[in-house]
Order: sequence, then structure tokens, then C-alpha cells
Amino acid sequence: MAEHPAYPVGLRLTGRRVVVLGGGQVAQRRLPALIAAGADIHLVSPQATPSVEAMADAGEITWTKRPYEDGDLADAWYALIATSDPTANTAASAEAERHRVWCVRSDDADAATAWTPATGHSAGVTVAVLTTEAKGRDPRHTAAIRDAVVEGLRDGTLVAPHHRTRTPGVALVGGGPGDPDLITVRGRRLLAEADVVIADRLGPRDLLAELPPHVEVIDAAKIPYGRYMAQEAINNALIEHAKQGKSVVRLKGGDPFVFGRGMEEALALAEAGIACTVVPGISSSISVPGAAGIPVTHRGVAHEFTVVSGHVAPDDERSLVDWASLAKLRGTLVVLMGVDKIGKIAETLVAHGKPADTPVALVQEGTTAAQRRVDATLATVAETVRTEDVKPPAVIVIGEVVNVGPGLHK
Ligand SMILES: C[S@@+](CC[C@H](N)C(=O)[O-])C[C@H]1O[C@@H](n2cnc3c(N)ncnc32)[C@H](O)[C@@H]1O
Repeated sequence: MAEHPAYPVGLRLTGRRVVVLGGGQVAQRRLPALIAAGADIHLVSPQATPSVEAMADAGEITWTKRPYEDGDLADAWYALIATSDPTANTAASAEAERHRVWCVRSDDADAATAWTPATGHSAGVTVAVLTTEAKGRDPRHTAAIRDAVVEGLRDGTLVAPHHRTRTPGVALVGGGPGDPDLITVRGRRLLAEADVVIADRLGPRDLLAELPPHVEVIDAAKIPYGRYMAQEAINNALIEHAKQGKSVVRLKGGDPFVFGRGMEEALALAEAGIACTVVPGISSSISVPGAAGIPVTHRGVAHEFTVVSGHVAPDDERSLVDWASLAKLRGTLVVLMGVDKIGKIAETLVAHGKPADTPVALVQEGTTAAQRRVDATLATVAETVRTEDVKPPAVIVIGEVVNVGPGLHK
């Protein structure tokens, strides 16, 4: 039997009787996939591990508490033989052979009529890896191949475009703060499948260099907008490319819905009747302070954090931020897009009662090779930004959390 390679096949076990002999570690590892396949599972074993017992208690399997007896495999479609008694295992596999039941044996792959592949899942596919022959079976090697394939599919380094079921329309993908490793698995996969990518200045620009040459990469800042506002021009570009049947990714920095105008784009797409998938991203408001050693909350120090936009000054009539109320909060204040206006912001907070010696940290280009952290207080921050030449993009953190870390990132 072992001279020929095994024939790979996917068993559709829904409602079909599967017999498992032995309730130990092997059963514990294999049962979840059999349950997920909808099999009618009968466990025969005098004992079981607590996890296997819990599956029986939950009604996911039927458990007969006794050793294997001849006849147990009579009506099975498939059997897993994994008792600790080699004689019982041999007798059971002889019975399986008699009844023509495919059976896996945990103690003797050579004597089995079926082998369990190393399996993993990624976005609607199951990856299953089998060795070609029982002799020289190396389960660690097959598991490593499985891991490499699944990992590659998940992070997009193994590009396998969908030809039948590609994500239609436009995906608004949050790319994270800048480090290419900080995009989500789903975001990276959609990027790997895209025909067109419309990208912002912020976010994981390095990922664009990895895209295959046929992918059209459009810099959102450079879309000509003639009589349109820039955002309308971007919306139109998304709609036009999607209407041509292309897979479009709108790659944004951080999370699409944190000062990212993501909902404006989602609404424009909905109005044009184009499907839109939103993929959340890691927002710079939390991750950039974290990358510089600043937690936005800390036990006994800050029980809240507030994220605000500082793109307009506090005295600007367009400002929607209640700076007077923010000055009274004890927690952490995180300001995005605030480098240019930080002088006015600090002045306003102090004027409304925030202590002038409240610590402030500015983290520029967080999570990238150019990351830089500059520390100040509300009293000194305007001057520090000037002398240290702090430039956008930067996340500004105001509050005692600035000083709780070990200082390794300063
Ligand atoms: C238009 S907002 C977009 C925020 C984004 N949607 C998010 O969730 O992170 C741009 C601002 O985010 C902050 N920002 C984004 N990425 C950053 C990074 N890598 N380092 C520092 N600040 C960053 C800066 O305050 C920048 O001005």
C-alpha cells in the first residue's frame, strides 16, 4: 500500500457516522475538525481528556464509555483509531478493512488506509499537506509546509488571485500607521488581489513596492481634480475604476474611520451602487504612542483617553472640539494633525485649568524607520516644536502616561 502515493480527497462527512476509538490527545486534536465537518461522531473509549469530555457534554459527540468491541465500526463511513492498546488498534483496523471503512491509525501509519494531512485555512480555502509515502513520514515537515503556505496566503506574500470569487467593488483598507507589518491579514490579502490601488501619503507605502507590475498604483494626492474638490475627485476615481470591473483597494493610513474620511467614500460608493468592503486598520492614535513606549491608559494613572483632531485652532469657528471641557479631564489626550496648532492648543488647555507642567510627547513618523519622540510640557511644547523642528505626521500625547514607561524609546 505504501509504495504508491496516497490519493488526496476531501470527505464530506455531514450527518455521516464517524467512529473514534480512544479519547486521548489524538482524539482531542482531531475531533474539532470532524465536528466542524458536521460528522455524526461516536467516541468509544473508557476514558477521555477533559476537553473531549466537554465535547460530549456539549452534545457535539456521542460517547460510549467502554473499550473497543468488534462490530463498533460496522456502519461507519470513516474511523479514527487511536486507543492506547495496540492489540485493540490492530483488531479495529482489521474490522475497518472488512467493512471497507477508511481508517486512520495513530500508532501505525503503514497499517492505516487513510492519513490525516496537516491542514490550515485561509480565506475560504483549506490547505492540506500529505507526504507521498508512509516510510520517512515527517509530520513536522508537512506542518511547516502547511504553515508556510497558509502564512503566505494570509500576509499576501504568496499571491493567488481569485478568478471566480474576487471581492467585488472597492475595499477601503486601513493600512495601519506605516510599518508594513502592521496592516491586517485581510488588508494585505485584498492588496495582493487588487488591480488598482489608490493610496494616501500616510500608511504602509513600502507595501506598494511589492505589488506586481500589472497593478495600477495611484497616489491620491496627485489625482487631478479640476473643478472638483480633492475628495470628490478621489470618490470619482474609485467609482470609475470599479465600474470597469477592476478590483480596487483604497489604501488608507491607520483606520479608515478615524479622521480618514472613509465614510464619505463609503457613502459615495453606495450612492453609485458599488459594493464596498471596509477593512479596519490599526489607528496611529493608539499604536504610534505605543511604539514610542507610551500607553494611552495605565492603571492608577489614566482611566480614559480622548482622541481629537487639532487641524483647526481652538479659536477657529470651524472647530468642533470642546477644549475647555478637555482641559478638565484627568485622562490622556491624543491629538492628531496638531503639530501646526500645538501652541494655541497648549495655551487653551492651560487657560482652562490644565496644569502647565502636564507632560507632552510628540511622536513623529511613528512605527517607521524615521520614528522620533520629542518630550515637553504644555508650557514648553510650542518652543520645543520649533527648536526640535518637529514635523507632521506626528501624534501628540498629553497627560501623565507620557512618563510611566521605562524611557527606552525617548
Ligand atoms: C488624516 S489623519 C489620519 C489618521 C488615521 N486614519 C489613523 O487612524 O491613524 C493623519 C494624522 O494621523 C497621525 N499619524 C498617522 N500616521 C502617523 C505616523 N506613522 N506617525 C505619527 N503620526 C501619524 C498624524 O497626526 C497625522 O497628521
